[in-house]
Amino acid sequence: MAVLVTGGAGYIGSHTCVELLNAGVDVVIVDNFYNCKKSSIDRIKALTSRDFKWYECDIRDHEGMDAIFKKEKIDSVIHFAGLKAVGESVQKPLEYFDNNVNGTLVLLDVMRNNGCKKIVFSSSATVYGMNNVSPLTEDMQVGGVTNPYGRTKFMIECILQDLYVSDKEWSICLLRYFNPIGAHKSGTMGEDPNGIPNNLMPYITQVAIGKREQLGVFGNDYDTHDGTGVRDYIHVVDLALGHVKAVEKVDGENGLFIYNLGTGKGYSVLDVVKAFEKASGQTIPYQIMPRRAGDIATCYSDPSKALNELGWKAERDIEEMCEDSWRWQSQNPNGYPD
Ligand code: NAD
Ligand code: UD1
Repeated sequence: MAVLVTGGAGYIGSHTCVELLNAGVDVVIVDNFYNCKKSSIDRIKALTSRDFKWYECDIRDHEGMDAIFKKEKIDSVIHFAGLKAVGESVQKPLEYFDNNVNGTLVLLDVMRNNGCKKIVFSSSATVYGMNNVSPLTEDMQVGGVTNPYGRTKFMIECILQDLYVSDKEWSICLLRYFNPIGAHKSGTMGEDPNGIPNNLMPYITQVAIGKREQLGVFGNDYDTHDGTGVRDYIHVVDLALGHVKAVEKVDGENGLFIYNLGTGKGYSVLDVVKAFEKASGQTIPYQIMPRRAGDIATCYSDPSKALNELGWKAERDIEEMCEDSWRWQSQNPNGYPD
């Protein structure tokens, strides 16, 4: 029996596949390689010394997905595949709703037709919207998201909840990620964004490697300890290990489960810059810029539900996140090879 991992060649998916394979779980990857390189598959194999099947297929391809389910013995699914750039989603809402929401509907239909009713879904802290006060807990009201990307996550959460109400044979786990950063300890796998990075850590590492001149810090007048935005950064390997626990959960019992995956600690933009400089020995020049539209001052999790119910807790601290991000960037200045 195997776990089908949609988007398994991407940043979080590839790290999760390594941890699943290391835990003795069989995986089958489905990716359309829209936002990743095929060489990430070789890196997963090299790190685990295990072979596995992978398919180049779009999750919206009903026939193609059905053929994969017919061929492989799929027991459960981890669903990472999606588009994730907030700014781009404002420019291309139809593409985001089609890829993320329609893609999920096709996947769920194929799963149901093939008798597979266990799914772990990549949601985001973005579903908590602008109005909840951190630390964020899973029982807080969600919605009120300000951009199409965030709305796709909220809509998919609603779809999965309605699906569970309609058929209690499903086992569904919604994982709300906070801010994943870091990379595999080997330095052979990490985040490889296309174009100008939108997120803080890949921007910092590209400044450190000399690809960008300086970091723009989006606002220093927030109500935080140094005026810059505070977030809950989580090491991608801790996040990956959370998925191993989530798969065990949906394998073990039916239900609808929701967990925050974060550390519970908040760091400001300038805290991250300082931690990165210490870990890498590089200086990160920065300039204070205006606030970025849609940003909030502070966002961090209460991760205690995942600890109580999954026995999962993030173990890696901000220093380790920065060291590992830098090892990946410095060993792979241009990311994955073509
Ligand atoms: P990523 O872009 O590296 O990985 C997503 C993968 O899905 C890519 O390899 C891409 O090629 C693939 N994909 C996209 N659309 C597809 C489709 N229609 N069919 C098949 N494959 C498709 O992104 P990531 O950072 O690894 O994120 C994984 C998931 O986690 C996404 O759903 C994202 O929205 C969610 N998430 C990410 C973050 C973050 O900060 N990275 C935070 C919260 C939630
Ligand atoms: C962003 C998305 C969120 C998504 C998450 C993970 C927005 C508004 N939100 O969250 O929906 O789930 O990424 O993909 O885009 N910063 C700078 N300079 C930069 C980049 C970022 O100062 O060049 C600051 C931001 O203002 C923020 C912090 O760094 O305070 C973290 O930003 P980022 O990495 O983009 O993550 P989020 O904004 O938390």
